[in-house]
Amino acid sequence: MEQEIQAGKARGYGMIERSLVIIKPDGVERCLVGEIIKRFENTGLKIVGMKMVWIDKKFAEQHYKAHKSKPFFRELVDFITEGPVVTFILEGVHAVDNVRRLVGTTSPHESPPGTIRGDFAHLSMAYASKIGSGGKNVIHASGSKKEADEEIKLWFKKDEIHSYTTVHEKHVF
Ligand code: RTP
Ligand code: MG
Repeated sequence: MEQEIQAGKARGYGMIERSLVIIKPDGVERCLVGEIIKRFENTGLKIVGMKMVWIDKKFAEQHYKAHKSKPFFRELVDFITEGPVVTFILEGVHAVDNVRRLVGTTSPHESPPGTIRGDFAHLSMAYASKIGSGGKNVIHASGSKKEADEEIKLWFKKDEIHSYTTVHEKHVF
């Protein structure tokens, strides 16, 4: 029995997930990197990979391929490539949903206070479209488990993802 419990625990009962976060160029230029990372760390989510990259248009098109047919696609690609981004992988229980909850909704003007987009931005996507902008909302987070798996593969090599134990794991995982 104890062995089964330990084995289940080791697998996280299928509930321990990974999610990809990107602090977009507006977030980096506004020096919000530390503030944003702190919010995730405070919840006990674990960083298992992290880097600063300045992606090119081809890479951006690949990352946002699901939006290829959208009217804002060009502006979105221009926006995400206008400066370096900081990207990291977070691991934890229901990480995909939990990270989105902390990030807030796509349009900062609908994102409640306490969320990253609600606290650090206020524009709407309607306004962004009017001014021909990609929608500066500070941060990206994977929208589903499938999206997370694909994005992690795109942004990180296997040897850039690390396995280690945090002090939180005793209480959180
Ligand atoms: P993300 O993928 O960046 O985490 O954002 P999301 O899931 O909340 O929203 P999504 O629908 O995937 O849109 C991707 C990003 O495109 C920009 N956007 N601009 N101008 C516009 O109308 C418009 N709509 C969306 C935003 O930067 C959004 O985060
Ligand atoms: Mg999305």
